[in-house]
Amino acid sequence: MSEETAKLSFSGKEHDFSVRKGSIGPDVIDISSLYKETGAFTYDPGFTSTASCDSEITFIDGDEGTLLHRGYPIEQLAEHGDFLEVCYLLLYGELPTKTQKSDFDYRVTRHTMVHEQMNRFFTGFRRDAHPMAVMCGTVGALSAFYHDSTDISDPHQRMVASMRMIAKMPTIAAMAYKYHIGQPFVYPQNDLDYASNFLRMCFAVPCEEYEVNPVLARAMDRIFILHADHEQNASTSTVRLAGSSGANPFACIAAGIACLWGPAHGGANEAALNMLAEIGSVDRIPEYIERAKDKNDPFRLMGFGHRVYKNYDPRAKIMQKTTHEVLGELGIKDDPMLEVAMELEKIALHDDYFVEKKLYPNIDFYSGITLRALGFPTNMFTVLFSVARTVGWIAQWKEMIEDPNQRIGRPRQLYTGAPKRDYVPMNKRS
Ligand code: SDX
Repeated sequence: MSEETAKLSFSGKEHDFSVRKGSIGPDVIDISSLYKETGAFTYDPGFTSTASCDSEITFIDGDEGTLLHRGYPIEQLAEHGDFLEVCYLLLYGELPTKTQKSDFDYRVTRHTMVHEQMNRFFTGFRRDAHPMAVMCGTVGALSAFYHDSTDISDPHQRMVASMRMIAKMPTIAAMAYKYHIGQPFVYPQNDLDYASNFLRMCFAVPCEEYEVNPVLARAMDRIFILHADHEQNASTSTVRLAGSSGANPFACIAAGIACLWGPAHGGANEAALNMLAEIGSVDRIPEYIERAKDKNDPFRLMGFGHRVYKNYDPRAKIMQKTTHEVLGELGIKDDPMLEVAMELEKIALHDDYFVEKKLYPNIDFYSGITLRALGFPTNMFTVLFSVARTVGWIAQWKEMIEDPNQRIGRPRQLYTGAPKRDYVPMNKRS
């Protein structure tokens, strides 16, 4: 069958561009020769219609509200799998056999400690520094310790760096939390699973034994699964762009953390909980709904809307179920935040503005309520998101590095500034 093409008529000339089909999802029009052929650029700020790469890792159908990791629906992975199994799947492309899984768990577990001198980094921060500021600094500094896994041309070093990132992020995140609250760091425990180890490093104190609650550990593990990867979102695109210059993986992940921090992206879980607290009670919801609709008011419903999902974010449904499980396990009967969140969701989903703009709750709408119930302060929510998303960033970085067509990312622009003009000496300026 002849290759399909897209025709462009421009400045009196006809141009044909090849159309490429993926395994599922929208086709792409390959415009990589457009500038050479027409002397013009495409223009797509925010990349709403731009595919930046080929990828086999994650697929989102925004209209259907589906999310697949290597073809497996998020609902099934969250129900039947554990986070390290999803990490293996994202990195290697297939679900692990029993042997592969126990080997992977063993390798990750035995990379969870950080270089002892990393402790000194924390003392340089103010105690009241935002934990995300600490994460940006300390994760970027990992490349100062692990020189034996920064050569991105060496597949072995790439895999070692990947394992180190996945394994050490929970430890660093827990250290950022402990430093923030003035408690001593807790070392990882090799006989605990990933989520249990993380909860213990965050909440254990030297004065007594810490018993991991298996229901809460399972909820934490599922929250990690829900946040693992999500196609070419802003922070993943940041990691890919940083990696395209050949920067080492630790520095690329630090760039991803910085981008995730923004309230329009990973910072939305912290912003959503702060918004629910500000609304405070069900009777104040209409006032905030009106503000969210007012073009002159910068207020937005945090945890609502999504660039890709124009239907319910499938992760939000699972998150809501997890919220009820955690509150139930903790005996929290009537959490006012949850009451406001559920009423806000109900009202918004029936409001013409939100229906017309296809604004649904996203993963960040319920996650904050759950994380607060688990004992985390609001300013740790995005840190937890970064712990989970590290595997997605690393898998996408690895895919980019191993792509034979990979080259440095360097977008162009529409220049709207001053045309060429001559320098004016100081004494001639008005
Ligand atoms: C994440 O990309 C990913 O995959 C991200 C993520 C991941 O896993 O990596 O899923 C994680 O970042 C989830 C999103 C978390 N952010 C928030 O909850 C913040 C609130 N949401 C918005 O800021 C917004 O919806 C975005 C940033 C999520 C999406 O922005 P877009 O795609 O650029 O959409 P837009 O801002 O152009 O909005 C379209 C319209 C606008 O109205 P008009 O200009 O067309 O009249 O919808 C309105 C917006 O004003 N709108 C909202 C709204 N979100 C969009 N109005 C009120 N409240 C909102 N939350």
